[in-house]
Amino acid sequence: MDDRGPSASDLLAFVRRTAADAGLIASLPLDPEGRTWIRLDGPGGSEAWLIGWPPGTGTGWHDHGGSRGAFAAAAGELTEQSLAVRLPTEGWKTLELAEDVDRERRLSDGRGRAFGPHHVHEVFNASPSAHAVSVHAYYPPLPLMRRYSRSGAVLRLEEIERPEEWA
Ligand SMILES: [Fe+2]
Repeated sequence: MDDRGPSASDLLAFVRRTAADAGLIASLPLDPEGRTWIRLDGPGGSEAWLIGWPPGTGTGWHDHGGSRGAFAAAAGELTEQSLAVRLPTEGWKTLELAEDVDRERRLSDGRGRAFGPHHVHEVFNASPSAHAVSVHAYYPPLPLMRRYSRSGAVLRLEEIERPEEWA
């Protein structure tokens, strides 16, 4: 845990403030075929992004490599599915989740959520017809992301992505 730098609530304040910047939100190019993004200057050295989500697109299950963060919906609606348990971070390939660990929330109209360094979730635009736009911030800047697949109660670690692969 990195106690220096912006807190999760600082990041939430930033993403909510930025999501209310109509001119910035309107500047994001939207592509019906895939996600679009603009890198933003996050507060205190954080990593921040403006992301456009066509209908039906999403992230898949992932974590944030130990970074904390926040995101807010600037347009449309995003659905977040998350786990209400802290997973062991290392040393497993598949994990059977207990019952009652799944959480779902929907974010629209500038609403956001902050998350801690062990948060595992997937985010998607469930709308059949409307784009969504959101603002995200992470601190420390993402060192890696673990990607998971999910089959019923079984979570499987699929890959570990590092920033040099994201260019
Ligand atoms: Fe995420």
